[in-house]
Amino acid sequence: MTDAQPSLSPPIVIAHRGASGERPEHTIAAYELAIAQGADVIEPDLVPTKDDVLVARHENEISETTDVASHPEFAGRKATKTIDGQKMTGWFVEDFTLAELKTLRAKERLPLLRPGNTAYDRKYDIPTLAEIIALAKKHKVGIYPETKHPSYFASIGHATDAPLVAQLKAAGWDSPDAPVFIQSFEVANLKRLARTTKLRLIQLVAGEGGPADGAAPSYAAMMTPAGLREVASYAWGIGPDKAMLWDGKLPTGLVRNAHAAGLRVHPWTFRAENYFLPSRFRDGLNPRGHGDVAGEIAAALRLGIDGFFTDYPAIGVKARNEARGVK
Ligand code: G3P
Ligand code: CA
Repeated sequence: MTDAQPSLSPPIVIAHRGASGERPEHTIAAYELAIAQGADVIEPDLVPTKDDVLVARHENEISETTDVASHPEFAGRKATKTIDGQKMTGWFVEDFTLAELKTLRAKERLPLLRPGNTAYDRKYDIPTLAEIIALAKKHKVGIYPETKHPSYFASIGHATDAPLVAQLKAAGWDSPDAPVFIQSFEVANLKRLARTTKLRLIQLVAGEGGPADGAAPSYAAMMTPAGLREVASYAWGIGPDKAMLWDGKLPTGLVRNAHAAGLRVHPWTFRAENYFLPSRFRDGLNPRGHGDVAGEIAAALRLGIDGFFTDYPAIGVKARNEARGVK
C-alpha cells in the first residue's frame, strides 16, 4: 500500500451512506460494497458519542437504523429531545459511550422499499470515523464526511468540527487536493472551518427551509446569484437537492449560476426506487420497483454537474462512465 491519493476527476460518484441501496446504510459492508462498485468517495454522516468519538449515523437518534430498542439494558436511556427545532423520542448517540454503542447492530432503514437488505440486519456494528478513514486509505478512495447538527452538539458540549479536522489531519489529509470534502447544512460551522482547514468545503442546501443555525434567511436566498457568490467566499462547492436542478423537464439554471460563482455542484440523492424518482423516470407503479435512475443521472450530467450522491454506486459509475464515453 502507498499513500498515493485518488485522482477524483469530475464528475465524481459519491456513495451516499455507502452502497445504501443494497446494504444497511453507514456500515462497513455498505462502504466496502460501494468501493467494490467503483465509487470515488464514500459518505459518512457523523455524530459524536458520549465520550466524543465520531461515528457514522445519519441521525443521532438511532432507533430506525439499529437494534437499540431490543436491548433491555438500554431501556432507561430512552429520551425525548428537541434537535434543530424538531422534537423526537428515542435513543441518542451522545448518551452512549463508544463501547456501549459497539454492542448495537445496524438494521435497514427502509425495509418496505428495500426488503432484500433486511437479510443483513444485525450483522454489522456502527463504524467509527477512524475505521472509515482506514478503509478509505486501504482502498485509495476519498471520503465525504458530513457534520450533522454541529450547533446542537456544540450547545451540549460536544465539539465536532475541530475533532473532525484534527482526525483528518492526523490521517495526512489537510490540503485542498486531499480526497476529502467536508459538507454541512449549516453555514457558521463551514465559515469557521474555512478559517481552520484547507480541505474542500461543501455547502448543502435543501429545496425548502434554511440553515438550522439561522446564519442565512433561507436556502433559496443562498442560491440566488448574489447568494452563491457569498457561499463561494467560504465553500468550494454546493450540494443541492437534485430537485433543485429542474423545473419540470427544464433546468432551473442552478448549475450554471453556481459555476458562474466559481462553485462546483454535487446534487443528492439518486436512488433507483420509483418512490424517489421523478415521474418521467419511473417504471410502473410499485414504489419499491426500480425505474430509470441511470437516465435521471445522465440528464443531470448533461447539465454539467461535477459529481453526485447515489445509493447505487454501481449504476452511478456506469452512467458516469457512459457520459465520459468510457464503456
Ligand atoms: O449529504 C448529502 C445528502 O446526504 C444530504 O442529505 O439527509 O442524506 O444527509 P442526507
Ligand atoms: Ca449526508
